[in-house]
Amino acid sequence: MSGAIDRELEERARAAQALAYAPYSRFPVGAAVRMGGKTYEGVNVENASYPLTVCAERNAVAAAVRDGARRLEAVAVCSNASPPSTPCGGCRQVLLEFAADPAAVTVTAVNQQGERRSWTLAELIPHGFSGRELP
Ligand code: THU
Repeated sequence: MSGAIDRELEERARAAQALAYAPYSRFPVGAAVRMGGKTYEGVNVENASYPLTVCAERNAVAAAVRDGARRLEAVAVCSNASPPSTPCGGCRQVLLEFAADPAAVTVTAVNQQGERRSWTLAELIPHGFSGRELP
């Protein structure tokens, strides 16, 4: 994966963050996933019934799946945290669902101040439940 493509994914996540619906937590998150060679964005969408909130990463994956994409290649997530915050455990599991090789999927966390941290998905969810165990 080239550095230029990584930066574009980060910019898409940063731009998406402005559209987050986060009136309760006041913690807007934007995510961008590259799946099947295309980029899809998502934002967190909160609800007055708090547990119904859906994270930015999961909404980005849903947009990709709706477009027919199935293979996850890279992820960028933008929050206001410093250092930039990582995808939650539930989102790691959802990302894993579409990762043919979790060690080859880069997850980059950024904020609007230009801080950046990155990992592979395998590092974020080691020994994850892939579904290959299912009958
Ligand atoms: N949130 C995300 O969108 N992605 C994450 O990976 C972590 C948390 C959202 C959920 C909620 O709207 C707010 O951040 C605070 O938890």
